Amino acid sequence: MHLLNTIGMSREQLDQLIESALRFKSGDDRSRPLEGRSVALVFFNPSLRTRASMQVGIYELGGNAVVLEPGGTSWTLEHRAGVVMDGDKTEHVAEFVRVLERYCVAIGVRTFAALKDWNEERTDPILNAFARYASVPIINLESAMHHPCQSLADMMTIREKLGTGRKRVVLTWAWHPKPLPMAVPNSFALAAAQMGHDLVIAHPPGYELDEELIEQLGNVEITNDIDAAFSGAEVIYAKSWGAKQFYGDADRDLATRAQYRSKWIVDEEKMARTNNAIFMHCLPVRRNVIVTDGVIDSTASVVIDEAENRLHVQKAIMASLLGG
Ligand code: CP
Repeated sequence: MHLLNTIGMSREQLDQLIESALRFKSGDDRSRPLEGRSVALVFFNPSLRTRASMQVGIYELGGNAVVLEPGGTSWTLEHRAGVVMDGDKTEHVAEFVRVLERYCVAIGVRTFAALKDWNEERTDPILNAFARYASVPIINLESAMHHPCQSLADMMTIREKLGTGRKRVVLTWAWHPKPLPMAVPNSFALAAAQMGHDLVIAHPPGYELDEELIEQLGNVEITNDIDAAFSGAEVIYAKSWGAKQFYGDADRDLATRAQYRSKWIVDEEKMARTNNAIFMHCLPVRRNVIVTDGVIDSTASVVIDEAENRLHVQKAIMASLLGG
């Protein structure tokens, strides 16, 4: 009933969502399954694409979006069970969710990793607290560990640009001036593997993704050699993320990653070694840090189509969860 991640979803289920998204995009599907209904969108963190595309998508499906920002436009929220709430949190997720579902037929939640405690954050505690108390569908709008709406839009974009066949898909770490969460690379890697692509993950030593997630990917090539990874690639997906060993110690991560600046960037030289690869990134992206102007402004770049597809995929997800 919830969409928290794509773990356990079959290729057929992913294909069905992508095909539904393609029908929304082409205009073949103009259904309005949210007519007269409201969906809550809860943002603990900033957003451009997710917020705008969800609001527009809900409107286009006939519904109404209720946007809430805990600690900003709504009360600060506690998610832990059994705590004595004598600190700075005003309301518990238990009541927040149970009240909202009297008004709304689904709740979307964005809650990033704070990169403070790996063992805790890898369990997606805030998102799972919403799911625990909810009797309406919870839609993950990017949590500590997963961003399924993004990865489904990514898979849709690969299919649109390159067809339905198996492709050599490279997920590459990139240098960034601060450690970032792993939700996007986790979900991209998982969905690429589920779609049957030949997945290569390139990152410097120490920047391994979650071991349990890697096990779920099955046959995946992991390399510390960014140059070798680009050879023959048909998709280059760039993303930076923080090292799990340095959660709670950003300074050590920054000191470690300093050596990778200028080397771990997507540039024209590396793209020239690919098999005419498309360039993908979830956005927002730092130009000339993650990717050069020359690549993101080239015909290989599909980042704007990728962002557009968020709208169509999320309409497909909401129609699937809430239609009928
Ligand atoms: N890709 C993505 O989720 O963008 P926003 O953070 O702007 O929503």
